[in-house]
Amino acid sequence: MLSHRGKLLTDAAYPLMEGFALFLANPFDPTTNPSGCINLGTAESSLLSSHLSSRLRSILQTQTDAIVIPSDLAYADFTGIPSFRTALCSLFRSTNLHDALKPEQLCVMNGCGTVVETLLSVLCDAKDSVLIPAPYYGGFDKDIEQRFHCSIVPIPTSPLDSTFSISSLDALYETHGSGRIKALVVMNPVNPTGHVYPPSFITSLMSWCRDRKIHLIVDEIYAYSIFKPSPFQSVLTLPAYKEAEEYVHWVWGFSKDFAMNGYRVGVLGTKNEGVLKACKEAAYFTGMATLVQRTLGVMVSDAEWVRDYIARHQEKLRMSCEYVETRLRKMNDGFEKERRLKWSSPTAGFFLWVDVSDWIKTKEEEKRVFVQLAKEGVYMAPGEAFHSPQPGWFRIIFSHPVNILDLALNRFEKVLSNLA
Ligand SMILES: Cc1ncc(COP(=O)(O)O)c(C=O)c1O
Repeated sequence: MLSHRGKLLTDAAYPLMEGFALFLANPFDPTTNPSGCINLGTAESSLLSSHLSSRLRSILQTQTDAIVIPSDLAYADFTGIPSFRTALCSLFRSTNLHDALKPEQLCVMNGCGTVVETLLSVLCDAKDSVLIPAPYYGGFDKDIEQRFHCSIVPIPTSPLDSTFSISSLDALYETHGSGRIKALVVMNPVNPTGHVYPPSFITSLMSWCRDRKIHLIVDEIYAYSIFKPSPFQSVLTLPAYKEAEEYVHWVWGFSKDFAMNGYRVGVLGTKNEGVLKACKEAAYFTGMATLVQRTLGVMVSDAEWVRDYIARHQEKLRMSCEYVETRLRKMNDGFEKERRLKWSSPTAGFFLWVDVSDWIKTKEEEKRVFVQLAKEGVYMAPGEAFHSPQPGWFRIIFSHPVNILDLALNRFEKVLSNLA
């Protein structure tokens, strides 16, 4: 009954989606469903949800720029209304992220997943390949492979800090048929390790891509979620960007840094006119509601509020990360001495990338523990979802209040203690 394409969609299995479905089927609520599933698997932050929602409510109620107007009911510029794209450029400038792009070089879409999919759809034909350092955010499988049938070539990295060498890129480029590799996608900061690549490394990647006429997509969706001292600089501020700008495409969005996954806002920035034009043609399918754009335009135009928000966001992330690391250390004290949890020490993001391989040796065992955790009432994303080359890894989201983390970690500890 379904087309070949439709069948591929229904047959595909995505562990991140499966885990999220488990959570949705039985969501934890402290009063109405205390034994329900706590979601430490989806990269969301609830640390400032009340602060953010009251700010948005107040904007909608009091700011004339955000009140519903007749033009909200009409078609508008699908690539983002000009006032919003202008407000975004001011945001990036006033927060010192970068001052590299003009409003017309941005295309606003319904999420960064859509931005990555659209970019790859205009850069690759079916069966072309994309290099990505692995373990990587598993949603890229959906964005890159599911509908446009490009394939991902994982670049092996050091699992605790995502580092890899330029010579490993050379080797993959040789073995996978240079003509088929069209792009390199890097996240900076990285999901799931929370690592930040230094400017010198991003500069080397830019040169590597430019020399081979390969596109470099840099996903900086966690750029304002850096909570420890770090050398981070946006790719767009690096001197080498000027010589590579035809090949560099920048991705950022509201899901993480403004903890607004549900609003579905992603931003593409590029100086490559051909790529921009192609993405803007696709914008009919990817555009977002003008009312949301006008509301967020008001929010980000208040530079003082933004400065205060980002400072709070980073401090809360730092504290939650420290809390979970302390809990994991305490858990280690209680385990037999040949069994220890190890984890990445993140500089950024919402997650710890945790090595549970002293308990779990195979992919099957990893899956079993994932199911066991869900039964016990906690969803944690398994390493398989990130294409971890070694079994026995989990990503733990820490961007939630301490009482929730505490309960979820009790459940995690119980499952580990029961493993033979
Ligand atoms: C690195 C990275 N890129 C893109 C996305 C997708 O974000 P969005 O909600 O904007 O589609 C995520 C979500 O977890 C992510 O971690």
